[in-house]
Amino acid sequence: MDKKYLIGNWKMYKTIQEATSFMQHLLPQLEAIDRSSFTLFIAPAFVHLPAIGALLNGSTFMQLGAQNCHHEPEGAFTGEVSAAMLADIGVGGVLIGHSERRIYQKEDHRLLAKKVKRVLEKGMQPFLCCGESLEDRRNGRHKAVVQQQIQESLDGIKEIEKVAIAYEPVWAIGTGEVACLEVIEAMHSFIKEILWHQYGSKNVPILYGGSCNPQNAKAIFNCPNVAGGLIGGASLRVDDFIKIVTALLEQKDGTNCN
Ligand code: 13P
Repeated sequence: MDKKYLIGNWKMYKTIQEATSFMQHLLPQLEAIDRSSFTLFIAPAFVHLPAIGALLNGSTFMQLGAQNCHHEPEGAFTGEVSAAMLADIGVGGVLIGHSERRIYQKEDHRLLAKKVKRVLEKGMQPFLCCGESLEDRRNGRHKAVVQQQIQESLDGIKEIEKVAIAYEPVWAIGTGEVACLEVIEAMHSFIKEILWHQYGSKNVPILYGGSCNPQNAKAIFNCPNVAGGLIGGASLRVDDFIKIVTALLEQKDGTNCN
């Protein structure tokens, strides 16, 4: 069975006190979990990374995630953070091309391909986000849009099996409107096909994100080709996050097979 991933994306939420208290409640509850086939990431705001990293204390089971990085190695880019800086403080995975950044920061595929390269160069795992808007889906363009996002954002990438994909339909993010299981299954298998035909790999994990919560997580994780979740709102509450961790742990064997 493929490796499973769960990422809590805290976006621009939590003060340092809230972030620290969350981790102090979460970590003891993770002690009992079987860690062999499972990697957990928590992606707080940049400013909280060192403090959260100290609490994780070098754990390989639960790792530090970053929500973004700059596409150049270094330079005069006021307010930006490089991949090297993240790697230096122990970040293991970086979200690339989250739809909120594509929309509000106008990040395009060319830029995202550079970010993926920077993250890989520094030995971290890029989690490339993709997903169509409601308009794309209504116009029947969802597959074409996701295919273009993946192909252009992974242009020139050689180490494809070090990359993970997160499928997050924009209309399901923060709306409470989770994609139905048929939609998730169809898109995950389509992404799997793209990766097979373009890169000859069946070993790239594909996560689902968008209104995933303790009630729907188990059904989502049991869909074929779902290797875990990228969780926004529900990752802000310890009890909800633990329930989602448990749902992934209970994923039926073989669900994520090729
Ligand atoms: P929600 O889980 O709040 O819908 O957010 C999903 C997301 O954007 C995770 O990156």
